[in-house]
Amino acid sequence: MNKEIKPIFIVNLLVVYKIIFKNIAEIVMIAQSDYPLRDLRISLYPSAKEIMGMDFLCFISPWNEKDYREMQNQPSFNNWLLKNTDDCALGMLAFQSIPPELEILRLGVHPNWRKQGLAEFLLTHLEIYAKTEKIAAIWLEVHEDNKSAISLYRKLNYKEIGSRNNYFWNPPGDALLLKKILKHDA
Ligand SMILES: CC(C)(COP(=O)(O)OP(=O)(O)OC[C@H]1O[C@@H](n2cnc3c(N)ncnc32)[C@H](O)[C@@H]1OP(=O)(O)O)[C@@H](O)C(=O)NCCC(=O)NCCS
Repeated sequence: MNKEIKPIFIVNLLVVYKIIFKNIAEIVMIAQSDYPLRDLRISLYPSAKEIMGMDFLCFISPWNEKDYREMQNQPSFNNWLLKNTDDCALGMLAFQSIPPELEILRLGVHPNWRKQGLAEFLLTHLEIYAKTEKIAAIWLEVHEDNKSAISLYRKLNYKEIGSRNNYFWNPPGDALLLKKILKHDA
């Protein structure tokens, strides 16, 4: 009898835990914000379909829903969807966190919402998250011609540490390797 009940009980507990955890996670991200932008929240567990929708709007070579579903099964993978209080998706950030390093895989802001500080908002929150996870450095590859992204990362003190020839194919081009060493409070 117990053997039949126990697994169902555990599954139910996990579902309840996941629902509660998701809600708390969203609230925590808002509470930590001292950024002048208001009424934003970061959804830490968007569906593959939701995040793919934003990716599609931001990138020339988007990842599809299957790509995201596979990535979401990897414990080190995270994808955040930035929303306003009307539940409208504004931007996204995907990254791989394997302490002591974190790699940014995708950062995009909805074309209608650019130049309003949203990418900076996401990266600021990424640093808050990274420090709690004992991450020592954040790094990424960016297309050499992506002036807006390069300017964004430079503004936030990411440094160029190298390049990769012919790294991108659409559009073709080299990648700059950028890295930011995080300063942790003593
Ligand atoms: C790059 C991108 C994420 C920037 O998002 P955003 O929300 O518009 O950026 P922010 O408003 O937070 O801008 C912060 C800083 O980034 C830089 N920046 C952003 N857009 C820029 C542009 N069009 N031209 C030059 N610099 C730009 C500036 O330094 C800016 O600071 P400032 O406002 O004090 O000048 C956005 O343009 C995008 O989604 N591009 C397509 C996807 C992409 O290329 N992602 C990067 C992959 S690594």
